[in-house]
Amino acid sequence: MILVTGGAGFIGSNFVLNWLRAGLEPVVNLDKLTYAGNLENLHALKDNKNHIFLRGDIADSELISSLLTKHNIRAVVNFAAESHVDRSIHGPSEFIQTNIIGTFNLLECSRKYWSTLSEQAKQNFRFLHVSTDEVFGSLNKEDPAFTENNRYEPNSPYSASKAASDHLVRAWLHTYGLPVLTTNCSNNYGPYHFPEKLIPLVIHNALKGKSLPIYGDGQQIRDWLYVTDHCEAIRCVLDKGRIGETYNIGGCNEKTNLEVVHTICNLLDAQKPRADGHSYKEQITFVADRPGHDKRYAMDASKIQTELGWRPAETFESGMAKTVAWYLDNSQWTENVTSGAYLEWVNKQYIHAV
Ligand code: NAD
Ligand code: DAU
Repeated sequence: MILVTGGAGFIGSNFVLNWLRAGLEPVVNLDKLTYAGNLENLHALKDNKNHIFLRGDIADSELISSLLTKHNIRAVVNFAAESHVDRSIHGPSEFIQTNIIGTFNLLECSRKYWSTLSEQAKQNFRFLHVSTDEVFGSLNKEDPAFTENNRYEPNSPYSASKAASDHLVRAWLHTYGLPVLTTNCSNNYGPYHFPEKLIPLVIHNALKGKSLPIYGDGQQIRDWLYVTDHCEAIRCVLDKGRIGETYNIGGCNEKTNLEVVHTICNLLDAQKPRADGHSYKEQITFVADRPGHDKRYAMDASKIQTELGWRPAETFESGMAKTVAWYLDNSQWTENVTSGAYLEWVNKQYIHAV
């Protein structure tokens, strides 16, 4: 069995759905169900005996230790995190707690459990930590893409907390020999993406007739990867990655935020035209910039491509078309997650904009 943490969130739920669809080992899915965790994402697994869901915190050592032993876990895949940069600016403490203390606890429990295993089981065990390109800081336009050897230069409380967790993972290999792997991925998009993030927020606001908030001049660049390509990459690293290595994952799809928003507007104009026949682009509004906003991220994914043979299946165009179609077909999902706590967040973040 494998233990997936944060498997009710955006990437984690896509990963669990893909993993079980591929007929791989049973999954114990541990998630705290914060505002970002949503059991609706896992609805298709409700009668699946190969999926055990448990609500819990990765910082709870008793719970984690008992889970590892009880289910004879052979791999931990750690998605659990606070993941939204803007929220980390408003309130960093949860990010320190989950991303650093939580990862520390998961490592410690895994190390203790791993030390009790037979030699064979020890060799087969893996701890895969899911991290981000943001740990490398920000690139200028002409800089080469980040490789695994770039210096860590995190700029937000979110990326600093992820960087700290990556360092802990590295130390647990070098000090204790725990067989770890780390992946650093660029921006994901696709189904079940919580509408606080740019792409789902813009789709949601467009359809609601609200403004489409673009921070600053909209010329910041992100490297977009369709979520199932990220899930495949993680499976590939878990299966074939060399212990102790880190792997950069990216889509080779560098786009400015304004280009991304225009793409969404074009797709919506074609698939769900506004009643007045005007373009959704008319709803674009430039708002105050994010403090410390990183200008550009870009990933050099040649290591995972040459060593492990992974390549993304989706282009930006095919992935965006699928994503917009998914949100149009699943409007109830968005309705359900955009009530209550979500509204409080939007009111706080976009007080002068939306
Ligand atoms: P998300 O916010 O959608 O999901 C995070 C999940 O973790 C939620 O289900 C939440 O309930 C759960 N969680 C939070 N704190 C927890 C705790 N203490 N114990 C157990 N569960 C907890 O995030 P996501 O976008 O799916 O990101 C998943 C991981 O991938 C994160 O580690 C993130 O840093 C990383 N990542 C994300 C992206 C991206 O573009 N979204 C890109 C690269 C890396
Ligand atoms: O790069 C990987 C990271 O991508 C992950 O580690 C993070 O967990 C994930 O949230 C994401 O971080 P970003 O900050 O890049 O994603 P976000 O969707 O919040 O913003 C994307 C870009 O769009 C960024 O430059 C900020 C901008 N933006 C965002 C929002 C929410 C806007 O212009 N307006 C908005 O309303």
